[in-house]
Order: sequence, then C-alpha cells, then structure tokens
Amino acid sequence: MQYDVKDLKLAKAGRLRIEWAEKNMPVLRLIRKQFEKQKPLKGKQIAACLHVTTETANLMVTLKAGGAKVALCASNPLSTQDDAAASLVKDFGIPVFAIKGEDNKTYYKHIKSTLSLKPQITMDDGADLVSTLHTGRTDLVKNIIGGTEETTTGVIRLRSLEKQNLLKFPIISVNDSKTKHWFDNRYGTGQSTLDGILRATNILFAGLKVVVCGYGWCGRGFASRAKGMGADVIVTEVDPLKALEATMDGYKVIPIDAAAKIGDLFVTLTGDVSVIRKEHFLKMKDGAIMANSGHFNVEIDIEGLKKISKSKRKTREFVEEFTLRNGKRINLLGDGRLINLAAAEGHPATVMDMSFANQSLAAEYLATHGKKLQKKVYPVPETIDQKIAKLKLEAMGVKIDQLTPEQKKYLTSWELGT
Ligand code: ADE
Repeated sequence: MQYDVKDLKLAKAGRLRIEWAEKNMPVLRLIRKQFEKQKPLKGKQIAACLHVTTETANLMVTLKAGGAKVALCASNPLSTQDDAAASLVKDFGIPVFAIKGEDNKTYYKHIKSTLSLKPQITMDDGADLVSTLHTGRTDLVKNIIGGTEETTTGVIRLRSLEKQNLLKFPIISVNDSKTKHWFDNRYGTGQSTLDGILRATNILFAGLKVVVCGYGWCGRGFASRAKGMGADVIVTEVDPLKALEATMDGYKVIPIDAAAKIGDLFVTLTGDVSVIRKEHFLKMKDGAIMANSGHFNVEIDIEGLKKISKSKRKTREFVEEFTLRNGKRINLLGDGRLINLAAAEGHPATVMDMSFANQSLAAEYLATHGKKLQKKVYPVPETIDQKIAKLKLEAMGVKIDQLTPEQKKYLTSWELGT
C-alpha cells in the first residue's frame, strides 16, 4: 500500500483519539453498522480530499465498512492531524497522503496520489480534488459516477463550473443539507474558531473588541460564541439582509474601514478574497490580532501585509508578528489559514457526526442512483436530511411531538380562516 504520512509511530496516539471522536458520533456509528451488513459501496473506489482529522478517520472507516476502497488526502496544507493519518494507515489499512504543514507542491502531489485510486466517487472539502480532475486528470473523469462537496466555498466553485457548462459529473452538495450547515457551520465553526484563537494566543475574550467579518452561518456562530465569552462584537457585512440580521441580533454593524481602527481581534469568515487589506492594516491599533476561519487563506491580504511591513517574527507557535513601517505591530494567526484546524482540532465530533452521516449517505445515494443524475450540483435528498435529524435526536435522548390528524389536515387545507 502506498501512503505518505509524517510518522507511523504516531498511530497509537491517533487511534486513541479516533476512538474518542467515535464516542460522540452515534449517527455515523449506526450508519457504519448498516453499511457492514448491507455493503452498499461494494466495488466502489472513493477518493477523498478532506481535513485529515479524527472525525474524518471515522468517516473513512465507515466508507470502508460499506465495502468501498478509499484513499484520503488533505483539503488544506495545515489541517492534517498527523497522528490520525498514521493510525488510518497502520491500524485501518487506509492509504493517506497528508502531512501537516506540507507545501503547496506536496499538497497537489498528494491530491494526485489519491486520484491514482481511479475513483468512481469523489469526496471534497473545498473542491480542490474536483478542480484537479477538471484540469490535470481529465482522463479519469470517465470512471466517475459523481462526487460530494462538504463546504460553502467548494459549492460556490462547483456551481460556477456548472453555470459555465464545464462540470463533468454530478455533485451532491452536502453543505446544503440542513443537518450540515445549520450545525457544523454555526456551532462547529463558532466553537472551533474560538478554540483555535485561544490555543494560539491565550487571550481573554471578556471585554475584547472582536470584529467579525461576514455574518453567514459561520460568522453568526462565531459572533454568538464570542459574545457569550463577554466580547464586544462588531460585525462587517456586504449583504444588506445579513447586516440587518446582525443589527437585530444586537451587534454593532460598521464598515471594515471604521472597524479597523477599533478592533483588538479581527476574524474573517466570508469565503471571499482580500476582506482585510493594506488600507485597513494601516489603521489598526498596535498589537491587533487577525485570524481567518474561511476555507482558503485569501481573506486577509497577506501579500499586502508583507509589503507594508519592515520585519516579521514568530512569537508563538501559531502567531507571526508583523512590524509595519508606521511602527505598529500586527499579529497574524496560523498563516491566515483556517485557524480552527491550524491551531486547534476543527469542529467537535458531535457536529461532524451529522456532516459525515450526510457524506456517507450521499456516497450511498451516488452508488445507487448516481448514473441517473445529470452533470449538476444537487442537494442531499430531503429524506436523508430528515433521517439524520431524527437519528441525532434519538441519540441525544430528545423526544418531540407528532402532529395530530386534526393538525395535519389544518396544515394542508385552505378553508379555515378568521
Ligand atoms: N472541518 C471542520 N472541522 C472538521 C473536523 N473536525 N474534521 C473534518 N473536517 C472538519
């Protein structure tokens, strides 16, 4: 078996952490049991490009239990947990190509190694695997039934391919599932972003002026967590609806140009480029901290920051201090890469349980119905979303009410009014 991980000796620690995550992934465990019996992925090769974490390890083991042959590479050069990667190889016999801190060249080499599996199903987080298939390895496209996509940024890229009639196989957008983005994006990113910033800096949130750039699901989650820790949260937005929502949620909404002068900590969660730029760095207070929690390291204009800096030094493991020519010092966390996975462990298993239940069932759906689909981006079928929500509630011991026949009738009729 070919693989490329940091050190197989890390496998023991990785295995224990994979087991720890598994305890909080009851829905995935249930799917794994069904997969073991029914083998819905028998004979299928799945190439996955995901953050290599203990939660992803549990997904890989589930897909393998379903009969699939899987290979895994990282969806970000800084997000790999080397111990989980080692355990997947050593304890589970799953080829992994990922090393935390790999350079861009190695990152793409690893994607290509994963593709040598000749997949029929792809699994992406950010669409780098699919874009490599569309540019470098078009020869492999004929084998592919379809792919799944985990994140907002990836779905945006794939919808752009679809719009230009360039998409070469169907994609299931796992991100569009409610059991994914309502929970993973909001509570997962909310908590893990805060966790990453704390582990990197050990700053106190109480009383801190925190500027949250972007009020989508991730921004909302992080803003509410920061507020809960006593921070004074300021939101920047470009979308009038989201800005209105942030305002009515009780946050001060101002342009980034004004926020730049007052923030102690800036966090980008927008999915767009150059959200914080040169003109903003120049206005920041001495000692300001910047972190990104969007998928790519493009939200903070790092090249622009370098241009106006006279020196930089590493002051803590995930902190780089830039001294600007105006004398002020600005701290960048985790090279501007997603801080929750660079400096912490990503989202907790409890939310990844639902995201990866969606991935597993979407893969099963592709294996059984994929050939009937067109070269389009599809949502996860509503029935799968509902099933995951029900299973998660059951696992959490939460009971809910049922509609009475009278209520059901009322909801489907028009006759009753004032
Ligand atoms: N994305 C965010 N957190 C994650 C995790 N723990 N595992 C895999 N992908 C993630």
